[in-house]
Amino acid sequence: MPCPALPDGFDFTDPDVYEHRVPLPEFAALRQTSPVWWNAQPHGIAGFGDDGYWVVTRHEDVKEVSTKPEIFSAALNTSIIRFNASMTRDQIDAQRLIMLNMDPPEHARVRQIVQRGFTPRSIRALEDALRTRAQTIVAEAKLKGTGDFVTDIACELPLQAIAELIGIPQDDRTRIFDWSNKMIAYDDPELAITEEVGSNAAAELISYAMNLAAARKECPAKDIVSRLVAAEDEGNLVPDEFGFFVLLLAVAGNETTRNAITHGMHAFLTHPDQWELYKRDRPATTAEEIVRWATPVVSFQRTATQDTTLGGAQIKKGQRVGLFYASANNDPDVFEHPEIFDITRDPNPHLGFGGGGPHFCLGKSLAVLEIDLIFNAIADTMPDIALAGEPRRLRSAWLNGVKELQVMYV
Ligand code: HEM
Repeated sequence: MPCPALPDGFDFTDPDVYEHRVPLPEFAALRQTSPVWWNAQPHGIAGFGDDGYWVVTRHEDVKEVSTKPEIFSAALNTSIIRFNASMTRDQIDAQRLIMLNMDPPEHARVRQIVQRGFTPRSIRALEDALRTRAQTIVAEAKLKGTGDFVTDIACELPLQAIAELIGIPQDDRTRIFDWSNKMIAYDDPELAITEEVGSNAAAELISYAMNLAAARKECPAKDIVSRLVAAEDEGNLVPDEFGFFVLLLAVAGNETTRNAITHGMHAFLTHPDQWELYKRDRPATTAEEIVRWATPVVSFQRTATQDTTLGGAQIKKGQRVGLFYASANNDPDVFEHPEIFDITRDPNPHLGFGGGGPHFCLGKSLAVLEIDLIFNAIADTMPDIALAGEPRRLRSAWLNGVKELQVMYV
């Protein structure tokens, strides 16, 4: 049914929309009028060959879908809401090798294994090394005087954190970073990453990780790779499962954290009272509010395994359901004045890391640590950092991305 508040043909996964903005007013209109709304799409536009998907806009409904994997599958059509329309069904199905696109019980098996690398103890063990990294990144940027915050500061720590976590040797990191960067942002023509370059980079990264896994299996070291691949029969990963896990980390842990940091910086620079407050008090609630405010992943999707109802809508078996975290995080039924950037917001039950349930972000503690470390370093080293240009947004169907933010490092 057309929504009177939306222009005809509006599509909540249209990359041209996100190149300019996240459609928050349109989400607000839907939350009030039709909170679970059918977004028609010309046949096949999203790569799935169907006619549209449901837009889930309320906090409560996003949580409900996320926590019912038996009704809402991540595997049937993957979690990615819009692929390039030229993707074949086989290529889409191949995405199920990564855990984000698996259902129970397969998902539970892999998740249980990889979780061992993400215990509070493993993350705490990275803290000192990452603090030093964050301080070096910021000190080097300061020497430049002015520059692009995204490349100078926001990109580097997430890459280093994943490399550190996995135990990738220092000499290999430039190659890993290059592959990771090529795999993301395929929707943006300006970045000139063709699909072929992107998929070659993914293949090279997987093969690198498989080799690393095989080497550690042969000769274990004190790192997560060794722990995850040590003995398959005791419920560990085989080298190719490890390869796909590293691929997921390179996508899930990079662009997301990079954009949280960039949007966080932009929010501080446009809300100077919050920056003053941060420099003075360093509230422990800051990183969570940055993630709510930024909501780097605008949406993921599920597919109904049976006819069901959600928020009053009748959903048919096989239909896709979009979880619009960006809308849930601005739901006034849950957040008082969601339009205000408030680093002391507490409680802050945002869904930026997912709506709970089996796929809830595995790297949440690491992401929060990285955000804390980088803003502490910035506040200590360049307290008067200032905007030198407007953010240039990424063209993407589901990421709230910024590809350039010029600042003065003072
Ligand atoms: C601010 C930064 C981040 C944001 C906003 C974010 C967001 C998300 C979201 C929305 C999901 C899906 C949740 C769901 O479907 O219910 C997810 C899953 C995941 N994230 Fe994150 N993430 C961030 C950082 C990271 C980092 C640093 C890592 C690891 C290094 C990571 C690893 C993962 C993995 C492995 C999954 C898949 C989990 C599964 O399928 O079981 N993420 N993340």
